[in-house]
Amino acid sequence: MSERLVVIGSQWGDEGKGKITDYFACRADMVVRYQGGNNAGHTVVFGGHKYSLQSIPSGIFNPATVNVMGNGMVVNPVSVIAELEKLHRQGVTDYQLRISDRAAMVMPWHSVLDGAYECRKGEALIGTTKKGIGPAYSDKYSRIGLRMGDLLEPDYFALRLRAALDVKNQELRMLGLDEFSFDDVYASYMEIARQIGHMICDTSDLINEACNTPGKKILFEGAQGMMLCIDHGTYPYVTSSTPSAASVPVGAGIAPKWVENVVGVAKSYCTRVGEGPFPTEIFGDTANEIRERGHEYGTVTGRPRRIGWLDAVVARYTGRLAGIDYWALMLFDVLSGLDTVKICTAYELDGTQVATPPSTISRLSRCKPVYIEMPGWKEDITGARSLADLPKAAVDYIRKIEELTGIPVGIVSVGPDRTQTILLNEKLRNF
Ligand code: GDP
Ligand code: IMO
Ligand code: MG
Repeated sequence: MSERLVVIGSQWGDEGKGKITDYFACRADMVVRYQGGNNAGHTVVFGGHKYSLQSIPSGIFNPATVNVMGNGMVVNPVSVIAELEKLHRQGVTDYQLRISDRAAMVMPWHSVLDGAYECRKGEALIGTTKKGIGPAYSDKYSRIGLRMGDLLEPDYFALRLRAALDVKNQELRMLGLDEFSFDDVYASYMEIARQIGHMICDTSDLINEACNTPGKKILFEGAQGMMLCIDHGTYPYVTSSTPSAASVPVGAGIAPKWVENVVGVAKSYCTRVGEGPFPTEIFGDTANEIRERGHEYGTVTGRPRRIGWLDAVVARYTGRLAGIDYWALMLFDVLSGLDTVKICTAYELDGTQVATPPSTISRLSRCKPVYIEMPGWKEDITGARSLADLPKAAVDYIRKIEELTGIPVGIVSVGPDRTQTILLNEKLRNF
């Protein structure tokens, strides 16, 4: 029997999924991205080097690992080529990458329309990454999108491109934006096909084969975070996919029975980029201290991230929705130095306590966090490699999270580097 591990973001993204995926990828036969696109920014640090990945899976640094961009992703091939070129410049040349023939393709008009829709929203803008993710997923579900496999059949690609441009150019015209020429797009995408066509295949076949092979280790790498989920997040301030473990079967092309060992990656506090409600958000000195110490600036857009205390209401909610088996508690070192640390245990909404986030942002915006406050710790913990190396107050904080969420902490991360990781769970240690 193969072994599977799913790494998902449990907050508003940027929790450290790249670091955790890379950590396990050293031992994985396959790493699969199954949703999202180049709106993601996953950071991996090892050997004194820092790498940033957007749509390429974080297992790319291990030559023995097959990296798969699954059918549930929206793939921008121009961005994939740029990412690969950057990796080459950084000395990463020995890798295995496969791209699903069924993955929706992000086309040049998608980012143009993403920007245009945001402008028209005025103050109600979402603060998207402007990578065209929403428009690409919309076209997929409107059934006018192109797919990566189309690139392999020039005549079929031409047919699909004409059909898409008929609709899209009309929309661009109505918005007063420049139209795209069939000939230009066709020529540039045939060049793209020449460069990466050999990577495009039926990836569901590959993943199923790995699932059915005894001893194979397969890691599914989520993007974004559960609170940005199109269904369960802070709608409409969300992304356009479902970052849950529940997306794995559809987005990778496997049966649900293969989903097991879900690691919910959570910062030891919370951050959010872009607009939308954030109940435990804090401002002022403590927020600034955490932002600077945690280098909390977006990997993709460079925007300063909003800062808040850890939210156990969100943790219980996302734990339940995604079936999280273990927490990976990240950026724990960043909390060192604070006199006290807070955890939100419930929300107060119009005079009553609620235990889960309400569905509308109008009610969520009125939720006031109810906190418990715990003693902080002053010690530098970046060198800790076991629980015994942590101060008592830090261990108490970990135990409190377990108590409040009913989910064990399996990993504690005390720095960005691959080595700055404490494994607390036997099953994870053996993966
Ligand atoms: P992802 O999108 O979930 O992969 O997360 P990002 O890479 O966007 O953001 C996480 C940031 O935190 C990156 O800059 C990481 O290098 C960094 N990071 C990850 N784990 C730790 C940690 O334990 N401590 C510190 N100080 N930084 C970390
Ligand atoms: P990773 O995988 C943090 C946010 C955007 C915006 C909203 C919608 O690095 O954790 P989109 O471009 O997806 O339509 O934007 O979602 N967002 C992220 N925030 N981390 C991400 O990915 C994100 N991907 C999208 O900031 O608020
Ligand atoms: Mg990120």
